[in-house]
Amino acid sequence: MTAKRVLVAYGSRHGATAGIASQIGTALREDGLDAVVLPADDVDDVRGFDAVVLGGSLYAGRWSGKALHCAERNEHYLKHRPVFLFSSGPVDSSADQHEIAPVPAVSRQMERLGAREHVTFGGSITMYTPGPIAKVLVRFGKGGDFRNTERIRNWAHHISGELTAAA
Ligand SMILES: Cc1cc2nc3c(=O)[nH]c(=O)nc-3n(C[C@H](O)[C@H](O)[C@H](O)COP(=O)(O)O)c2cc1C
Repeated sequence: MTAKRVLVAYGSRHGATAGIASQIGTALREDGLDAVVLPADDVDDVRGFDAVVLGGSLYAGRWSGKALHCAERNEHYLKHRPVFLFSSGPVDSSADQHEIAPVPAVSRQMERLGAREHVTFGGSITMYTPGPIAKVLVRFGKGGDFRNTERIRNWAHHISGELTAAA
């Protein structure tokens, strides 16, 4: 039997969400799935995939426009596949402490696409993050890398389980 093909697409400004997507892709491949990780902007056709994981970073309470447009552009075909959404955001440990609800645009996409799940992971702002706001936040001790590899990988393995169970 050929391995299920899973697309992991991400909307990222400064690389933190891309890193989460990459960890998800690695964990899915460890489980025997054929996972491809792509920037959301590069996704024109999802028909070659059995399932899609789509994530975006949060800025000022809004989900990445790249992720959102990817969802809108591919809505017709995403509706007919298992879809899992994630957000990368809080630069503190809150995402590890309790479930963080999707922002309104993500909730709407969940409904439109019939997405199975959404999860919010901690994000990252470090001295290497470009942009004046990031620089100020780091200078005042408000930065840090709060991407929790164990949580990210556990979620990816959970997705593998769902997809394999459906086989
Ligand atoms: C100007 C600015 C605004 C942000 N707004 C939010 C926000 O509203 N909610 C949130 O959870 N995180 C917010 N963050 C944190 C980012 O979502 C986090 O750093 C994310 O991991 C960045 O991902 P990216 O590098 O892939 O763009 C903000 C960060 C910056 C620099």
